[in-house]
Amino acid sequence: MPSDEIIRVEHLVVAFGDFKAVNDISFGVMRGEIFGFLGANGAGKTTTIRTLCGILNATSGQVFVAGKDVAAATAVLKPYIGYMSQKFTLYPDLTVRENINFAGSLYNMSKERIAQRSQLLFDFIGMQKIPPGPVKDLSGGDKQIIALAAAILHDPELVFLDEPTAGTSPQMRQTFWRLIQRLAQRGKTVFVTTHYMDEAENCGRIALMEKGKMVALDTPASLKNSYFPKGIKELSFRQPRQQQIAAEIQRLGLGQPSAFADKLRVRVHDENAFDAFARGKNNIFSVQTVPPTLEDVFLKAVSGAGGTP
Ligand SMILES: Nc1ncnc2c1ncn2[C@@H]1O[C@H](COP(=O)(O)OP(=O)(O)OP(=O)(O)O)[C@@H](O)[C@H]1O
Ligand SMILES: [Mg+2]
Repeated sequence: MPSDEIIRVEHLVVAFGDFKAVNDISFGVMRGEIFGFLGANGAGKTTTIRTLCGILNATSGQVFVAGKDVAAATAVLKPYIGYMSQKFTLYPDLTVRENINFAGSLYNMSKERIAQRSQLLFDFIGMQKIPPGPVKDLSGGDKQIIALAAAILHDPELVFLDEPTAGTSPQMRQTFWRLIQRLAQRGKTVFVTTHYMDEAENCGRIALMEKGKMVALDTPASLKNSYFPKGIKELSFRQPRQQQIAAEIQRLGLGQPSAFADKLRVRVHDENAFDAFARGKNNIFSVQTVPPTLEDVFLKAVSGAGGTP
């Protein structure tokens, strides 16, 4: 394990009965990295995170955090790790303060330290006045950001955020990402899952999970480049023929089309066959090659169309 690696996973398998939710994955995460962990529902993201935190046991394989075997050193690693679970974990009937105090007490933090850290975090998230009522009365976004504050109150080196921005407003998502970037700037490692591809652009590297397997791992730019070295075709039309052409492209197996405003974006399978097709259609006004997005990469990787390049 290189010394700048904070996580090392070797051939991890996590099974529930006969079902392998995580099926032989190996990877490393560097210290100070924002590591995006993406995949469709049920791909095995939460299961992996829970194993990395020592909440679930590996069925086989090994997981190291800061050079220590997680299964053997869970207690030692506890202060080192912060975990914001996908399921809401604050106590709904307690106030924000009570929840924060409770989170601090789990890490044996002194009252002064809790007050100091929570002030810092609340200042950063722009919550000047801490709401006095029970957490259950807060908006969805405020609940999420307070759950994040509770998870990082003890100032952990490694933070797992499992869909932290699910169901929050664009404005709140921005606040979350400013906080995540600030953590990374301070040398913390952030391991984050999201279904929002625009958020994934903020990650240093991205791992793509599909049905328990890791199908890709690279920087956003390299993923786009390796999955779509020739870009994406964007078609515009003389007449509104978008749906008809999309159906034809699909039927002929030329690529995967998706509507984009009044245009059509096509993840082309065979460049020559596609170009010949497009030339023969006089209601296609123009064909442009445009840069791929992470959404294109994700759809190609998880659909199995083309698979790993
Ligand atoms: N305790 C469990 N017992 C049995 N099966 C489980 C258990 N926990 C998870 N699974 C199954 O393992 C698979 C992976 O689940 P997991 O929660 O890790 O996926 P995920 O990638 O986090 O999905 P999502 O994006 O929906 O959160 C799913 O099929 C899920 O039903
Ligand atoms: Mg999950």
